[in-house]
Amino acid sequence: MIGYQLERYGELAEGIERVLISRQEIETRIYELGEEISRDYAGRNPLLVGVLKGVVPFMADLVRAITIPIEVDYMDIARFRAGSEGAVRLEKDLNVPIEGRHILFVEDVIDTGMTLNYLLRNLRARDPASLEVCVFFNKPVHRLVNIPLKYKGFDLPDKFVVGYGLDYREQYRNLPFVGLLHAHVFQEEIRD
Ligand code: IMP
Ligand code: MG
Repeated sequence: MIGYQLERYGELAEGIERVLISRQEIETRIYELGEEISRDYAGRNPLLVGVLKGVVPFMADLVRAITIPIEVDYMDIARFRAGSEGAVRLEKDLNVPIEGRHILFVEDVIDTGMTLNYLLRNLRARDPASLEVCVFFNKPVHRLVNIPLKYKGFDLPDKFVVGYGLDYREQYRNLPFVGLLHAHVFQEEIRD
């Protein structure tokens, strides 16, 4: 396979201390998740729901690893930094009704779980036939709410990471691997 190594990324890679999860490891894990989801949802035409923008690379790879008919839709949210943590407003809702449908909520990363908790409550109120979560990166250390994760890619350490959709101040989303930021780049944790 052609190399998606750190060195290929020149100036962009200067901010990265090291690669935590390689492109190859990501591909392998997504293939496995695709197999599992295809088996579990056979005959159910699930709707995969993602939240912009971080989930885009993962969603794009995941849907191509799934071998059964599915549909995809996206939501967008705005977060309020002041006040209660995890306060979220819907900026873009789904385009289709989900009552009676099998929903697989696809997320790039879960940290405290507050964002996901809000969105799951919102979707559950619309009476889907089922509602499960597929998260690629799980950061268990700061979890404030218990959310059952039916499908999970990787557990991550308590570190701020970038790449494969995850950003630091809107940068680094285009890296094909997950990297740790150099301390001199990273100033404070920014949530999208
Ligand atoms: P939480 O689960 O509500 O705490 O929020 C998760 C959100 O925080 C994600 O959707 C990301 O936008 C952001 N986030 C958490 N950890 C990281 C990280 O390590 N890198 C980049 N974004 C992160
Ligand atoms: Mg996100």
